Amino acid sequence: MNRIKIHGLLQSKTPLDQVLVSGWVRTRRDSKEFSFIEVNDGSCLKNIQIIAPSTLPNYDEIQRLTTGSAVSISGSLVSSQGKGQSWEITATRISVIGLAPETFPLQKKRHSDEYLRTIAHLRPRTNKYGAVFRIRSELSYAIHSFFRDRGFQYIHSPIITGSDCEGAGEMFRVTTLDIKNPALNDRGLDATRDFFGKEASLTVSGQLSAEMFALALGDVYTFGPTFRAENSNTRRHAAEFWMIEPEMAFCDLSGNMDLGEELIRYLISHVLRECREDMDLFGNFVDKTLKETLNHILSSEFVRLPYAEAVEILKSSQAAFDYPVAYGIDLQSEHEKYLTETHFKKPVILHDYPKTIKPFYMRLNADQQTVAAMDILVPGIGEIVGGSQREERLDALQDRMDEMGLIRENYWWYLDSRRYGSVPHSGFGMGFERLIMMITGINNIRDVIPFPRTPGNIDF
Ligand code: 4AD
Ligand code: MG
Repeated sequence: MNRIKIHGLLQSKTPLDQVLVSGWVRTRRDSKEFSFIEVNDGSCLKNIQIIAPSTLPNYDEIQRLTTGSAVSISGSLVSSQGKGQSWEITATRISVIGLAPETFPLQKKRHSDEYLRTIAHLRPRTNKYGAVFRIRSELSYAIHSFFRDRGFQYIHSPIITGSDCEGAGEMFRVTTLDIKNPALNDRGLDATRDFFGKEASLTVSGQLSAEMFALALGDVYTFGPTFRAENSNTRRHAAEFWMIEPEMAFCDLSGNMDLGEELIRYLISHVLRECREDMDLFGNFVDKTLKETLNHILSSEFVRLPYAEAVEILKSSQAAFDYPVAYGIDLQSEHEKYLTETHFKKPVILHDYPKTIKPFYMRLNADQQTVAAMDILVPGIGEIVGGSQREERLDALQDRMDEMGLIRENYWWYLDSRRYGSVPHSGFGMGFERLIMMITGINNIRDVIPFPRTPGNIDF
C-alpha cells in the first residue's frame, strides 16, 4: 500500500489500485448507497473526493464523520464521474483516526481574517491560510536556490547579540537576572552579573555578522528571524519577522540595486510558475488585480531615483499628506505609496539619502551629506528592501561613529574588518513577510506569519 499525498495523486496519469491517503474531512454528504467525503491533507489546495460504499463494515461510524475529523482511506484511484474533479477514490477501508465534534470552529461558512487570527492554531486548515503557508515554504526554498545558483554562501548569524546593529533603541533585552530581585548598580541593572556578563538583546539584523563573512567568503547571505521592539501597530510591522540579508564583497551600490531587483523578479516568477493553484486563490478571492500587479512588476524596469528628487516630486504633488515633506525627513508610508503607486506606478529604488536619517555604517558620498543607501519600494507594500554600500574606509567610519555618539570599543571587531584588507562591499535586507504580502496580495502582516508577534499579542 502506498501512502501518497493528495497533491501527488491528483497528478496521476493512470488509475491506481491500493492507495492510502490520510487527511481531514472538509465536508461529507450521503446518498442512498454511498457517503461522499471531501478530504484535504494540506499538500495542496484541492480536496480529494472519497466514495464510501454503504457495504463498508464501519459505515455507521463513517456516517458520523464531521468536518475537521481525521481519517485514513485505502482504496483505488478512479476517474471521477462527477463534475469539477478528475480523480476520486473508491474506498475499501476507512479508519477514523480522530473525530472533531461540532464545536470545531471551522465549519463551512467563510470567516473573517480577524476571527481567524484568534484561532491561529487552526487557521492553516482553511483554504486561504493553507495556501499562504505553502507559498511561504516555497519562497524559502526559492530564496536558497537563488543564492546557491549565484555562488552565495548561507551564514547563520546569531540571534542573541551583544551589539546593536543600527545603533538605535528598539531591541528586546535578553536577561536571566531575577526580575523580583535584580542585581543593581548605581546606573540600574548590573549587566556584569547577567548571563553573558554584559547587556544582551535579540538581534535586529544579521548584517554586521554577514559583513564579516562577506569579507572572507565573498558573497554571503543570512535568512533568519529578527526582532524589533518598536511599538508600532501597523499592518506591515511585526515584532518578530524574517529577513533575507545578502552581503557582497567588491560590490558597489549599483550592483546592490541590481541584485535586489533580480531577487524580487526571480521570486515572483518562481511562485507564479510553481504555485499556480494557490496563486489563483489569491487572484480570485484576495486581490483581483494581483496577477496584473505582479506581471507588471516583472516587466517594468525599476525606477532609480535619488532621495532629493523624490522629495521634490512629493513637494510638488497635489496629494494631501498627513506628514509634511521636506528634505531631511524620513519618508512615511504615505509618501512611499504616492511614489510607487500614484506617481511612477511601478517599483522605485530610492538612493543617496541624507546621512542624518541613516545608520552609521552606510558609505558617505563625496558630497559629505548623503550616504550610499537604497530602499526598494513596491506598490501595495511600500518599503520591501533596505540596504546600502558600507563604509569601508576606517577613518570615515570612525568619524561617523564619533559623530553619532557610538562607542568605538564596542565595535572593535567590526572596525578590524576595515583595518585588515578592507574592500568596498554592499548588501541589503529584504523583509520576508513583506515579500509574501506582495506576492499574495494579503494586506496584513499578521496573516502571513504562522503565529504573529505584535505589541500586546503573544498567544499561541
Ligand atoms: O531597512 P531595515 O531596517 O534594514 C536593516 O535592518 C539592514 N541592516 C539590512 C541590511 O542592509 N542588511 O530592514 C530591512 C527590511 C525592511 O525593508 C522591511 O522590509 C523589513 O526588513 N522590516 C520589517 N518587516 C516586518 N516588521 C518589521 N518591524 C520590519 N522592520 C523592517
Ligand atoms: Mg529601512
